[in-house]
Amino acid sequence: MKNMTVLGAGIMGHGVAQLFAQAGKNVRIQARRQESLDQARELITNSLKIMVEKDMLTTSEMKATQARITYTTNLYEALQDADFVLESIPEVLELKLDTYEIVESVVSEKTIISSNTSTFPLKDLTQRAKHPERFIITHFFNPPQLVPLVEIVKVAVTEEKVIQATYHLMKEIGRSPVILQKEVPGFIVNRIQVAMLREAFHLMEMGVATAEDIDIVMKGSMGFKWAFCGPMESQDLAGLQTTKYMVENLLPELSDVKEPPAFLTEMVENNQLGIRTGKGFYTYADNQAAEKIRKRDDDFLELLRLLNREKETLHSYSG
Ligand SMILES: NC(=O)c1ccc[n+]([C@@H]2O[C@H](COP(=O)([O-])OP(=O)(O)OC[C@H]3O[C@@H](n4cnc5c(N)ncnc54)[C@H](O)[C@@H]3O)[C@@H](O)[C@H]2O)c1
Repeated sequence: MKNMTVLGAGIMGHGVAQLFAQAGKNVRIQARRQESLDQARELITNSLKIMVEKDMLTTSEMKATQARITYTTNLYEALQDADFVLESIPEVLELKLDTYEIVESVVSEKTIISSNTSTFPLKDLTQRAKHPERFIITHFFNPPQLVPLVEIVKVAVTEEKVIQATYHLMKEIGRSPVILQKEVPGFIVNRIQVAMLREAFHLMEMGVATAEDIDIVMKGSMGFKWAFCGPMESQDLAGLQTTKYMVENLLPELSDVKEPPAFLTEMVENNQLGIRTGKGFYTYADNQAAEKIRKRDDDFLELLRLLNREKETLHSYSG
């Protein structure tokens, strides 16, 4: 597969377009508004520049990557000769369905159509599809050009060759894909994340820990370990007898509420939405967002460098 089309040039779309281009693919990225495309171009340039600064990319690789991306507001033009279409437009079902109708009317029958949806089941996304068997979900994580995981979601009707081609494409662009064995709401990561957040919110409500304490605790324990040693591997190292005691003793103590905590609803009602409104669990100065994102990306790149080094070491051990 050589020609990639990315629909939507927002937080996720621009990062996935960058990944495809870095892997040598021709990329067309489409958004409705020229401003979205201009912003995407700037974000991609900035992200590539940081990689050059960190010696993870040469200047000529950066230029070649940029040259492989075409920006357009014209959906029909974006879809010409597409081998793989990645839809990353807003999470509004009608918008996505209308877009797929046009996509299917333009692309060849061999073209794979994937969605970056975080919440919609594949059967909803394909309710008006002429060829539901070539639809698939590829769920990336923000920032997609740095976070390795992609959750691949298929259903019974999805063609095996579509699943395999998508899996190999994700590998080719340097991701770590996982194919879900069956579709469930929230896929894997967001289910585990929400389970963890429920308990963190519960601890805050009980007055055990502040938001800042929760961050210190997680960064210094699970966050530190999990990039290299996953939760299941960690249990094997600790011993499963201990795991069984811990689960048995603590499960009855944990929160099992089915609704968001009142304090979260109140924060949202008061426009305390986090960095974009200057206040969330922390308070942010006006110009802090860009700086914070730059620092996060710097840290993630350092982690990636370590993970890549580990992969290379394992590769050389195995000959
Ligand atoms: N933001 C995240 O952390 C995250 C993570 C994983 C998956 N997702 C999913 O990725 C998708 C995109 O999310 P995002 O955060 O990048 O959104 P976003 O709002 O940042 O970007 C959406 C982009 O789509 C463009 N757009 C709007 N309507 C369009 C249309 N009809 N055709 C083409 N382009 C259109 C907008 O101009 C914008 O460029 C959603 O399905 C979302 O659920 C988001």
